[in-house]
Amino acid sequence: MTHPKILIQLDPDKHASSFDAVVAVDSDVDQLVQYSQVEPSSVRDLVHGAIFTRGVEDLKNTAIFIGGSDVSNAEKLLHQVVNSFFGPMRVSVLLDANGANTTAAAAVVAASRHMELAGAKATVLAGTGPVGQRVARMLMGSGCNVTLVSRRMERAEKVCEAVHDALKADEIATEATATPFCVDTADDTAGAISGSQLVIAAGAAGIQLLDEKTRKGSKDLSVVIDLNAVPPLGVEGTEVFDKAVERDGVICYGAAGVGGTKMKIHREAIRRLFTSNDLVLEAQQVYEIGKEIG
Ligand SMILES: NC(=O)c1ccc[n+]([C@@H]2O[C@H](COP(=O)([O-])OP(=O)(O)OC[C@H]3O[C@@H](n4cnc5c(N)ncnc54)[C@H](OP(=O)(O)O)[C@@H]3O)[C@@H](O)[C@H]2O)c1
Repeated sequence: MTHPKILIQLDPDKHASSFDAVVAVDSDVDQLVQYSQVEPSSVRDLVHGAIFTRGVEDLKNTAIFIGGSDVSNAEKLLHQVVNSFFGPMRVSVLLDANGANTTAAAAVVAASRHMELAGAKATVLAGTGPVGQRVARMLMGSGCNVTLVSRRMERAEKVCEAVHDALKADEIATEATATPFCVDTADDTAGAISGSQLVIAAGAAGIQLLDEKTRKGSKDLSVVIDLNAVPPLGVEGTEVFDKAVERDGVICYGAAGVGGTKMKIHREAIRRLFTSNDLVLEAQQVYEIGKEIG
């Protein structure tokens, strides 16, 4: 008997994400089981329900998706999920809270279509949020020297350290660097992107980070990607649907322009969950999937 593919959706929010549910159904999941307002203390019993119901050889047909809007809460759930497994009693799990892993992977994959990442210089504007941190980590893991920008130096420094630690934990050896950079004015931003071939703007929705004059004045730029879909956009003079559109000699992507790749990566990551019972798909593993499917 072939067991149906069951995805258990764990979400810390009041209502489990409808976006995550739709993607699950579109990724050939047979049965979606949703839990909302999930707290770390409830995870162990939910995981036990998943691992004690089918034989070990059938556990690859059960998987867990951790979503919701708050990435740090989701990370706490992931920690509990992984700690509830033992021996072969485990199921595969994907974390993509707030779309952070799939969005970051899509942005870096989009950039890699137009330039060699290894040895390049890249700036991640507002790189301290969950998406920007992951973008920085994927870029650095690909050999890019990253300048990570924040309005507060301490935040940029903390994230640069976390990026180094995450790469080390994933056993990714790189000579590349992540350098913190603090901006206050447009002149500061010009300094932050100076010499960069790639800029990825990962600021909060509705916040402009790079004005048109500064963008046009940056002569080394080849690729600009803006992940903010809400006007005003993060990069002035680009459009949300830009997808490899050349503007002033620079290849530009808007948030919707990388959205198709993001959705492809998300669906493929869910499909992969059902290929074995021991996958833990976090930022690096999601990025690997993104690189494979382009
Ligand atoms: N296409 C998709 O499917 C998708 C999925 C997820 C996210 N996104 C978009 O990706 C972007 C990044 O997401 P996120 O969740 O990582 O963002 P976030 O945490 O909301 O914000 C990222 C950073 O923006 C900076 N920021 C916040 N308010 C600001 C202000 N008033 N002025 C200047 N900078 C400000 C902060 O950096 P500092 O305080 O350190 O300066 C913050 O850490 C967002 O625009 C989001 O909407 C798109």
